[in-house]
Amino acid sequence: MIVQNLDLMDPKRFADGIPYEHFRHLRDCAPVSRGTDTDGEPLWHVVRHQDVSAVSRDARTFSSSPTTMTSIRKVDPSPPIITFLDSPEHTRVRKLTFKVFAPSRLAALKVPVRGIVDLLLDEAREKGEFDLAEDIALRLPFEVLLELLDIPRRDRTTMLGWARRTVNLGDKEYGDDTGPDAFQQIHAYLNDFAHHRAAHPADDCFSLLLNARLNGAERLGLPDRLTPDEVGLFASTLVTAGIETTYCSVTGGVLALLDHPDELARLRADRRLLPTAAAEVLRWVTPVTHFARRPVADTEIAGQPVAAGEKTVLWYSSANRDERVFTDPDRFDIGRSPNPQLSFGGGGPHVCIGNGLAVLELREFLDGVADLLPLLELAEPPVRPETNFMNSVKHLRLRFR
Ligand code: HEM
Repeated sequence: MIVQNLDLMDPKRFADGIPYEHFRHLRDCAPVSRGTDTDGEPLWHVVRHQDVSAVSRDARTFSSSPTTMTSIRKVDPSPPIITFLDSPEHTRVRKLTFKVFAPSRLAALKVPVRGIVDLLLDEAREKGEFDLAEDIALRLPFEVLLELLDIPRRDRTTMLGWARRTVNLGDKEYGDDTGPDAFQQIHAYLNDFAHHRAAHPADDCFSLLLNARLNGAERLGLPDRLTPDEVGLFASTLVTAGIETTYCSVTGGVLALLDHPDELARLRADRRLLPTAAAEVLRWVTPVTHFARRPVADTEIAGQPVAAGEKTVLWYSSANRDERVFTDPDRFDIGRSPNPQLSFGGGGPHVCIGNGLAVLELREFLDGVADLLPLLELAEPPVRPETNFMNSVKHLRLRFR
């Protein structure tokens, strides 16, 4: 269906926040609608929960190759990162890398995550006034990830500089073309590190990835192990996929709690609500607004014919407010249950591999920050970057009352 005047690919439409009213209108009147990417390519917008989920789960029909990005965030897909692979190559990399996110490994990290949260909150306390985005939201996932990857401490300051340039990509404050360069620097460093570990194995994450073997890979005609280059690329992907997303959930979560003092009081009174509160923050914020797929053959979505190869944009931001699935979707309710939010994707083989880590970080952060928030107030209005890809806040200055 063609709907006029709703250019969701224009970042300016997101300058004041996610255009929820437009999405509601589309869900009601045009669940699969025609649009145009910024490079002029026609595409389809998919906005209902059921359809976002169905397309995500049908990876045979809807390919992630050569990219799942829209043109607003062009990424050179060579060599293709895990996100841009289809089966069987995707299954191979996914199975070989999943070991890093095994629950036992994450459980062992639990203390560092809480320790990092407390350290960052203590530093903020000492400052009196601080930028939650830069000082905490960026550094929390960065420190956790570098701990998970066992990156030498001496290199972490340099890497933080690179990682900062991968968030809010496209926003002028971060430079017009700094993102890809920063990614290349991260990639070059981690690639060297992977090669170093291949020559000098240790008891760390890189060696775990290099030693992993996939039973039955030969039957598929695929290598049963990851090369050092593949390990370096995967680790680099984690830096971009794991940091800016968690960053958005932390800033967005704090804003949601400050805007809803009753829900904050509820959380402070009963920490057993932390799991549902984290899920509700993820639904409410929906850090990644969309990803795309392309059908490999002519197909249809909710009765709308879609031709082979046509870009199909899956709007998680809209699916997470779908009134067909969520009661009172525009209410922030930290006890919401069930909460089938699609912030980690609509299911299927590409669903976020780091979701366990992301939820762990968010829960520990909410637990740590809950008693601090009543003492804090906005020092300045929050500043949003210009992007339609992430639901981000680039500056969130807070001060103690
Ligand atoms: C709040 C935090 C996060 C959000 C909202 C988020 C969201 C997403 C989404 C929407 C996808 C794509 C799903 C699809 O295409 O169907 C994804 C994939 C992915 N995420 Fe996350 N993510 C988060 C945190 C993390 C973390 C902490 C890591 C790792 C440290 C991570 C690593 C990845 C990777 C590697 C993929 C690609 C998986 C694949 O293609 O098989 N993410 N994430």
